[in-house]
Amino acid sequence: MEHILSFAGFIAIIPLVLFIVYLGKHLHKNEYVYYGIASIIALAALVLGILEQAGALAFELASIPVVYQLVFQGHLTFALFVLVMFAGAFKNKSPQKITLMRVRREMAILGFIFLVPHAGFLIVTALTAWNPTGTIAFLIMLPLFVTSFPKIRKKLHPLQWRKLHKWAYAAYAFIYAHLLTINLIAQQDTGNLRFVRFGIYTVIFLFYSYLKFQNHILPARTKEKTQKA
Ligand code: HEM
Repeated sequence: MEHILSFAGFIAIIPLVLFIVYLGKHLHKNEYVYYGIASIIALAALVLGILEQAGALAFELASIPVVYQLVFQGHLTFALFVLVMFAGAFKNKSPQKITLMRVRREMAILGFIFLVPHAGFLIVTALTAWNPTGTIAFLIMLPLFVTSFPKIRKKLHPLQWRKLHKWAYAAYAFIYAHLLTINLIAQQDTGNLRFVRFGIYTVIFLFYSYLKFQNHILPARTKEKTQKA
């Protein structure tokens, strides 16, 4: 069971996609209700995480394995950010892109909200292991998170906003570096399964890069060339 749950990030993508397909409109219309509920859960988890790290909790968080993996070990935030990434990589006007783009902002904001308890719970572990990859991803994402809220977004010029949000690519690179280092250097206790996870993370990021190049970078370059000619 524990081994299966270490793949929770990949598994969680499936119910999330189903949720977006069937309840995406509901999420979009009621985004602040979802943010409110997510923030309450994340805040409670953050407090529990800090208490556990301080040795002040009467039970172990790992005794609630699904919640532990999804919220405290970062798998839910990973699944949400994968969908945010792919929303930007699918071909324009494709059904996948239309479905994901409808709730891209909401997924990114929820992803960041659920990143907080993961980061709060593991920051000491990460920094004492001299692994700042997750922290750097977090710091890059912080201004992106704040400026994702429509009221704040409106205060920025659209070009300024777009330029700022190009930093998301740097955050994706650090997320990959985070998952790579966690699985190759840390987590030696999980045996060879960490190599399987590392392989799946690599396939996901390579596939994302391929789609992004094929559907966006290449057509933009071709357009630029024909305009110059
Ligand atoms: C968007 C940013 C982040 C994402 C998507 C993310 C996601 C994840 C995932 C999915 C894992 C489990 C990897 C696996 O078992 O295959 C993990 C592990 C870990 N993360 Fe993050 N993380 C992020 C940011 C952070 C931050 C900000 C910190 C600390 C400040 C952090 C600290 C850790 C540590 C220490 C582990 C290893 C846990 C262990 O071995 O018990 N992460 N992260």
